[in-house]
Amino acid sequence: MSRGTILDLCYLVAAVTFILALKGLSNPKRARTGNFIAMAGMALAIGATFFQPGLSHIGLIVIGMVIGAVVGIPASRMVKMTAMPQLVAIFNGVGGGAAALVAMTEFLGFGGQKPATYVTLEVLVGVLIGTVSFAGSAIAFIKLQELITGRPITYPGQQIVNALLGIGAIGLVIAVLITASTPLLWALLAVSALLGVLLVLPIGGADVPVLISLLNSLTGLAVAASGFTLGNNLLIVAGTLVGASGLLLTQMMCKAMGRSLPNILFSAFGSATITSSGGSQEDRPVRSATPEDIGVMLAYAHKVAIIPGYGLAVAQAQHIARELADELESKGIEVFYAIHPVAGRMPGHMNVLLAEANVPYDKLLEMDEANPQLGQCDVALVVGANDTVNPAAREAGSPISGMPIINADDAAQVVFLKRSMRPGFAGIENELLFNEKTTLVFGDAKETLTKMVASLAAS
Ligand code: TAP
Repeated sequence: MSRGTILDLCYLVAAVTFILALKGLSNPKRARTGNFIAMAGMALAIGATFFQPGLSHIGLIVIGMVIGAVVGIPASRMVKMTAMPQLVAIFNGVGGGAAALVAMTEFLGFGGQKPATYVTLEVLVGVLIGTVSFAGSAIAFIKLQELITGRPITYPGQQIVNALLGIGAIGLVIAVLITASTPLLWALLAVSALLGVLLVLPIGGADVPVLISLLNSLTGLAVAASGFTLGNNLLIVAGTLVGASGLLLTQMMCKAMGRSLPNILFSAFGSATITSSGGSQEDRPVRSATPEDIGVMLAYAHKVAIIPGYGLAVAQAQHIARELADELESKGIEVFYAIHPVAGRMPGHMNVLLAEANVPYDKLLEMDEANPQLGQCDVALVVGANDTVNPAAREAGSPISGMPIINADDAAQVVFLKRSMRPGFAGIENELLFNEKTTLVFGDAKETLTKMVASLAAS
């Protein structure tokens, strides 16, 4: 068997592992295995590439890999769960940037000779998409890291400017195709970078995770384009898988938020804090209680739904939430977790947190499974969630109108664990906080839950 055939076989096996990995990642029980399969496939692909005939600059490649590992491994190990979206943004950005650099290097390597048009087209697509993805991801990172405001940054005529830049970029692609001019290629790089920045600035913090998923999909396409450029089949397969899965994830998030992709990209949602009629949240009376009171109340329940949200991640309260559930179950009380698809700040955020606390997967009910059960619950315990239980989503004309929610208000009692009357990520007032069956326990969720567990154990 020739070296080329062995290499192709290795790439084929790697491509199959990527597909199996994606299948594994679609389910919390198999997600870890999926990750290991992907890692093994990637190790095989990288190892096999070193045996590619004609590969040169091996020393430089190894230095690049070592730099990447030295930066990437500690960054991944030390990142807090709440900072995961910005880590994904920056990792995605460097992927897009790398694809753009490969394309640039390839073009500059033509050495003034005009290559075939189809070759130039895939190179230019790589430059355009890869650079938009790099620049857009960098701005998403800066926003999520709160180095600039997370709110939409808008100015008059923004969409016209963006449309003109988009048309300009396409025009430059055509011009470079015709002339093979290097200065025009640099102009394309600059316009693509500006486009990436300006497309992301008007997108508000709460919508940035959707944007990251879309940029991830773009990076996949840029990588697939560099696969064509380099004649590497595995890059084409892996890039296409990333492109397609990123797009599907984007679509799922839009559905879970009850909004369309154009609305997320172009409506500058969240540029003003929105409050419904009835006055400011700070002025209206609410019922509050101590954690100890709620501990006693829970002791009398038969069925409890725990509804986690972003605040669970902020407070790192997943372990103590599990302890509460264990304590309830030891008293014969039925417990389940109701998981909204966009609870937290990234897909699967709650599943990952609760898996870290070894919560059994069969206790995690997705929204559609959980909602019919909420009517039978004595208590819906909302731990750091807000928008995902906000009944304003059921009202026509509300900014989150049409977003599917967890029906916490179907339970006999609703208990919110939060620190203040501040709204959730969407900046929208939540009438459920003022409902007569609602009790608020103010404070950090971890501290509150710790006191509740002690009170429950003593009841
Ligand atoms: P949010 O609506 O953002 O509410 C989080 C709540 O947690 C707030 O009410 C906050 O109130 C409370 N909180 C924060 N820190 C806390 C702490 N240490 N202890 C106790 N409470 C704390 O969260 P959600 O219900 O999970 O909704 C997610 C939002 O993100 C939605 O708007 C969704 O559309 C958006 N989004 C999510 C995704 C993904 S993929 N997850 C993607 C795009 C958009 P206090 O400040 O008063 O404590």
